[in-house]
Amino acid sequence: MDPNASSIPATARAATATVKLRLTRVTKVFESGGQRVEALQPIDLEVSEGEFVVLFGPSGCGKSTLLNMIAGFEEPTSGEITLEGQPVTEPGSDRLMLFQEHALFPWLRVIDNVTYGLRWEPGYRFRPRRRREKAMELLRLVHLEEFAKSPVHELSGGMKQRVALARALAPDPKVLLVDEPFPALDALVRAKLYTELQDILVRTRKTIVSVTHDPREAACLGDRVIVFTGRPGSIKAELTVELPRPRDINDPKVAECAGIIAKQLEEENNETIPGEKI
Ligand SMILES: Nc1ncnc2c1ncn2[C@@H]1O[C@H](COP(=O)(O)OP(=O)(O)OP(=O)(O)O)[C@@H](O)[C@H]1O
Ligand SMILES: [Mg+2]
Repeated sequence: MDPNASSIPATARAATATVKLRLTRVTKVFESGGQRVEALQPIDLEVSEGEFVVLFGPSGCGKSTLLNMIAGFEEPTSGEITLEGQPVTEPGSDRLMLFQEHALFPWLRVIDNVTYGLRWEPGYRFRPRRRREKAMELLRLVHLEEFAKSPVHELSGGMKQRVALARALAPDPKVLLVDEPFPALDALVRAKLYTELQDILVRTRKTIVSVTHDPREAACLGDRVIVFTGRPGSIKAELTVELPRPRDINDPKVAECAGIIAKQLEEENNETIPGEKI
């Protein structure tokens, strides 16, 4: 990790010249029932092709709000989001979200969950065999091919998350958005999923923006970690994790990076609770 990278950046810059996703002065204010919540101060962020960017910050700082705006579920109050230079104005299968609740259809079999979203995709419409082939390819990627015909309700939590990952990858999105997908899983399953996620990232060269509270997860997965201030969220620091992949969440070097990331948040907490006695 570059120790000099923790200064406040004017713009969180993409690591390479090919910028996939660009957020320019993006803000969000929620107004409902006479209440006004300023969720995000102007955010400038670039994500390059194939990069894994982790958003890390305290609860309520606007991380999910930012992902929702990239997904097109929410509209920025001001500023602009572009994907490959085109403004993001609505949800689309070029930006798919992997939610905390895996949101699978419990009455469908594993394979049918994965093929579901492909029914409207160009190249797959009216081509059930092609959809099945694609789904099987992805189920192999997440090591679930032998469960293709199982009903989803028979799977463990970790397996369901892997099905959700296969489903999100099926339409080959340009950007995969991941909102704290693994908090409910035990440590062993999580460690395995982190390894798999990195493996998939390397093999598909997906551009990923993910959100976490967990500094170890950030250090294990991220090429870059964007640290947010408390609400209203703004970018406080940007850290580049230069550890080779695949990374093991239990590796002491990952723990060391996690410590540096967590420190950013501690400093943040100290700043936001002035006068507190310790
Ligand atoms: N639809 C909404 N209407 C009104 N306020 C909202 C809405 N969505 C989010 N907020 C507010 O915006 C702020 C940021 O919320 P957000 O869910 O983005 O935080 P977060 O960083 O994802 O938090 P956590 O880590 O707890 O998930 C919070 O104060 C929240 O109450
Ligand atoms: Mg959230």
